[in-house]
Amino acid sequence: MIKNIAVLPGDGVGPEITEQAIRVLKKIAEKFGHEFTFKNAHIGAAAIDKIGDPFPNETKELCLKSDAILFGAIGDPKYDNDPTAKIRPEQGLLAMRKALVLYANIRPIFVFDNFSPKSPLKPEVINGVDFIVIRELIGGIYFGKKGRSSDGKSAYDVNEYSKEEIVRVAKYAFELSQKRKKKLTVVDKANVLETSRLWRETIQEMAKNYKDVSVEFMFVDNASMQIIKHPINFDVILTENMFGDILTDEASVITGSIGMLPSASIGEKTSLFEPIHGSFPRAKGKNIANPIGSILSGAMMLEYAFGLKKESDAIYNAVKKVLSLGFGTQDIAEENVLSTIELTDKIIELI
Ligand code: IPM
Ligand code: MN
Repeated sequence: MIKNIAVLPGDGVGPEITEQAIRVLKKIAEKFGHEFTFKNAHIGAAAIDKIGDPFPNETKELCLKSDAILFGAIGDPKYDNDPTAKIRPEQGLLAMRKALVLYANIRPIFVFDNFSPKSPLKPEVINGVDFIVIRELIGGIYFGKKGRSSDGKSAYDVNEYSKEEIVRVAKYAFELSQKRKKKLTVVDKANVLETSRLWRETIQEMAKNYKDVSVEFMFVDNASMQIIKHPINFDVILTENMFGDILTDEASVITGSIGMLPSASIGEKTSLFEPIHGSFPRAKGKNIANPIGSILSGAMMLEYAFGLKKESDAIYNAVKKVLSLGFGTQDIAEENVLSTIELTDKIIELI
């Protein structure tokens, strides 16, 4: 199989971890007889510095003509500490999601063979956890009308959803549920929000066409509790943009290190794959960041974008093995602490 992959390393540790994912993908290409080409483009603070725009047009063009996108991280303390900055790296991220129509953000939450040395939760709560959160990514309050009154003393952010937007992401969620345990939990706040009532109504209508999937609705406040108390009860969770943002940070805590979790953003044309962690600026250039989130994002790309399940499994199995041998970066290992590059070397050896 011949595939062209756009690489957007971004800021902080983004470049060094995507580099490791590329090394792993090259190993897979060699072993399974595929041809992957990689082309880089700028995004985030790195793109503001070079081009003056956090999501330059040339980056967008490269993404749209590629078969998939490997994304690092964006964000730089120089902007976080300056609320008056007019151009911010995060604008690049939101502009990219919208321009590439990345409507469904898929965040799997899983524990490898009971491996969760740094989880704050008890082993009996997290053993066997394996669920997926699907977050609507280009609608809702993130993209609604926002502004200030003329005297500047009040402000608003409108949360708006159309039926089409709900159907598009819900269809993805129903189909994914069909491939898994056929259990879909829709998280909303339908006791208060009109948008949530439209979500419920729409999904109840759609459920008639997916009779094999059992659908439950859960209020977001309750869901935030259940995710920590009984994470084992979930299989596929579907929710709107803002609730998904919050719940996925919460859920990532279950596994003990945010450094290990991959994600996918499904696009109408090209899909994007990235670790769920941020740019981790303190670790930049130190060769200490956990590369597993990025490496598994590469594995998700193989499965979700290219349909290469066997190749994807080869990466998951190598990572599982490396962890079971006790190796890891400083965030997960107790004794056999390896650098970003050394841990990747081990994974590549095992593939
Ligand atoms: C995420 C991030 C972004 C979001 C920020 C950086 C705008 O938190 O990808 O979850 O809120 O979507
Ligand atoms: Mn977030």
